[in-house]
Amino acid sequence: MKPYLLQTLKELALLGAIKNKIEISSIELAKQLDTSQQTASRYLLELDKKNMISREFGIKKQLIQINSQGEDILQKEHLQYQQIFQLTNRVVFKGRVVSGMGEGRYYTEQDGYVTQFKQKLGFIPYPGTLNVEIEYIDRNKLRLLKNHSAIDIDEFQTKNRTFGGVKCFRAEINGIDAAIVLPLRSHYSNILEFISPEFLREKLNINNDDFVNIVIFFNE
Ligand code: CDP
Repeated sequence: MKPYLLQTLKELALLGAIKNKIEISSIELAKQLDTSQQTASRYLLELDKKNMISREFGIKKQLIQINSQGEDILQKEHLQYQQIFQLTNRVVFKGRVVSGMGEGRYYTEQDGYVTQFKQKLGFIPYPGTLNVEIEYIDRNKLRLLKNHSAIDIDEFQTKNRTFGGVKCFRAEINGIDAAIVLPLRSHYSNILEFISPEFLREKLNINNDDFVNIVIFFNE
């Protein structure tokens, strides 16, 4: 989305164009955007072509309403500002499915973890973890996770060894409910590990290197 189009949408929305048709001339809009009438007209044409707004033309003025696509763009912008000011309860990532080292199954099948997942997350995980390498640009967002309290899975002992504590956050991967598990002892890497009641590769029809959209939810 080009910045000037976003700015135009925002001005229209501020004038009430999300829920209603507003009456505005390109001269008036130009004033709001601090630009020329020709430029403002061109912005409206571009928004119209992209199906972000609908227009009806009168003699001097036009009636404009923002379409659902345009509203989505503004909502996304809104979410970003919430994130900037830490008012949001979620963070979004893009990533790529990768293989792990084959250890996920061993850990997620330990009774000490399974009972806690059931109790604290409300599901018994499909054995294993689905690993997603987050995009490089998103690595800084991982720090946001540190600032929020997690669902804590406590460490426990078996006859042979100790299993370390884990932090969990509820999450969605391509819209399917899951959770991420962050081992307390290892430092934060650019890999997120997902557990889910579902076999995610099958459910989402994904393979290594496929891109996925991730939402991670913070607790209140
Ligand atoms: O560590 P690695 O990726 O080799 O595998 P794992 O943790 O032992 O999990 C076995 C396989 O199931 C892997 O291919 C995971 O990506 C996948 N998996 C999944 O699709 N959905 C889950 N909820 C858990 C694991």
